[in-house]
Amino acid sequence: MAKKIIERIQKMIDVNIPIILIPDHDFWRVDNVIVDAAKGFVKEWNPADGWLGWKSKSIKEEIGHGNLLNGLQTIYKSNGDPGTEHRNQIIVLKNIHDYLRPEVMDENRTKLIATLQMMAQDRLYCEGIQTTIIIVDPWLTIPEELKKYVSIVEIPPLGNTKEDEETIKGIIREHWDVNAFDSSKDEEEKTIQELLPNLKGMTRFEIDRILDIAMSSNGTLTAEDNRRIVEEKQAMVRKEGLLEIVNTPVLKNDDDLDKYIGGLENMKTYLKRKAKIIANFNDAQSQGVEAPKGLFLVGVAGCGKSLSAKLAASLFKVPLLKLDMGSMMGKYLGESEGNLRRAIRIAEAVAPCVLWIDEIEKAFAGVGNSGDGQNDSLMRMFGHFLSWMQEKKSMVYVIATANNVKTLPPEFKRKGRFDEIFFVGRPNTTEKAQIMSIHLEKGNRAKCPKSQEVRNALKNMEVMKRQVTSLGLDGYSGADIEALIKEAIETVYIDANKKELTWDILKQSKAKMKSITEIYNGDQELKKTLEKPDYATAASQES
Ligand SMILES: Nc1ncnc2c1ncn2[C@@H]1O[C@H](COP(=O)(O)OP(=O)(O)OP(=O)(O)O)[C@@H](O)[C@H]1O
Ligand SMILES: [Mg+2]
Repeated sequence: MAKKIIERIQKMIDVNIPIILIPDHDFWRVDNVIVDAAKGFVKEWNPADGWLGWKSKSIKEEIGHGNLLNGLQTIYKSNGDPGTEHRNQIIVLKNIHDYLRPEVMDENRTKLIATLQMMAQDRLYCEGIQTTIIIVDPWLTIPEELKKYVSIVEIPPLGNTKEDEETIKGIIREHWDVNAFDSSKDEEEKTIQELLPNLKGMTRFEIDRILDIAMSSNGTLTAEDNRRIVEEKQAMVRKEGLLEIVNTPVLKNDDDLDKYIGGLENMKTYLKRKAKIIANFNDAQSQGVEAPKGLFLVGVAGCGKSLSAKLAASLFKVPLLKLDMGSMMGKYLGESEGNLRRAIRIAEAVAPCVLWIDEIEKAFAGVGNSGDGQNDSLMRMFGHFLSWMQEKKSMVYVIATANNVKTLPPEFKRKGRFDEIFFVGRPNTTEKAQIMSIHLEKGNRAKCPKSQEVRNALKNMEVMKRQVTSLGLDGYSGADIEALIKEAIETVYIDANKKELTWDILKQSKAKMKSITEIYNGDQELKKTLEKPDYATAASQES
């Protein structure tokens, strides 16, 4: 991994990229990359030390008296002097986001941006001046004035290459050697193999920290520590606040899926197949199987898209991380892209996991239609997301859901991004009967007294189908059916004359409500979302 990144940075320097942004907080790791990539002199500025000589890490008071702006101006001005060492150098600036924050509208910020701009232009247009600025900062929102001079390089976390695996094993060994005195080599190798999958996707810094915590409980590392590692990863997600960890039901076995999702058989079969790969990912990978990318669920409101995303995580036995595109949108230009990058990075650190992007069309609808600043930012977010999906090697299984795909750009739906796109339509009669059975028995609803006829239907799917047909639930969604049952159960509880749940009560409840189809038929735009697009159906037969 490191070799590729080093080559990339060297190439950028060779082709005169004036400013390189590395959005990373692991300075130790980044320093190692820069040391290998740099050909000329390197100077560094960080808020703790001021200006530093790179190799010696000794403080260089003479440059701008430690001040960022003064130092940069000194370097910028002396760049013009012929024959100085400054003409061919790398300036590393760490954690400068506070100085460039858009809400800080002071003279120093303006001067700082202008100086960086001038230095960038010198780099581009003045022959002989080869000062490259490398900014290392995970929080920086690039000011608009500098955008065209900046290229971003991300140093990926330790992932799935053989080289990365060896690095992670090396880190585990270092911890092991320090703390575990009387364990055998075999034991060590076994533990390393067991811990390895959960440590992928993190940086060296994060792995060190998590292993320190794991060791501190009992002074040694065992497979037991995997649980702690997972907990630590989840704490990391909460701390960052960009993704929500969603609780999901625990399934005893794959067939338990039918207790939660009625119908959608094609999708359930598909998910069960993927579960086999995800549960044995290391083994599958060693035999040439690639990491599944994800699933795009398109369809009518209330028909089980969100439900399916939750149950997929249950089935795969991995955490479910929900990404709310709306909350990625920052107030400041460029902030949204940074948020999305960080969210993806966190998901990779937590892998294996399901990354659920709900209502994705709300974020990316109409991308590319107009040329304002907000749209540019969306375009970049969209581009970043698509290229990540395309190149993704980690076990982050993406489930995106949307009601209306027509507003999404076509690139989104191209093969190679998602493994499969399913249309989740309104349930057919069999599915309605299954959904009815699930919701009549869900949680404490099982305790609501029911008439013999209702109980008969719960025992026999053919009877349930007949009852559903006579109820007349044409155009009902799963959510409609659930709402109907809720209403009927409430009636049984409140109304003293009604001692048990009957088909009549359900019929009366139905008369009080409107189905999704009735609601949508009144709105031309919404009505279109009821039409089946040209995708595989999640159900096994058409409704
Ligand atoms: N196939 C189904 N099986 C069981 N319950 C279902 C099914 N479809 C919908 N439901 C019920 O309806 C509720 C709402 O469904 P869900 O949130 O999954 O809909 P959605 O397709 O994500 O809708 P939206 O487009 O509005 O987000 C579910 O929590 C569940 O209780
Ligand atoms: Mg939903």
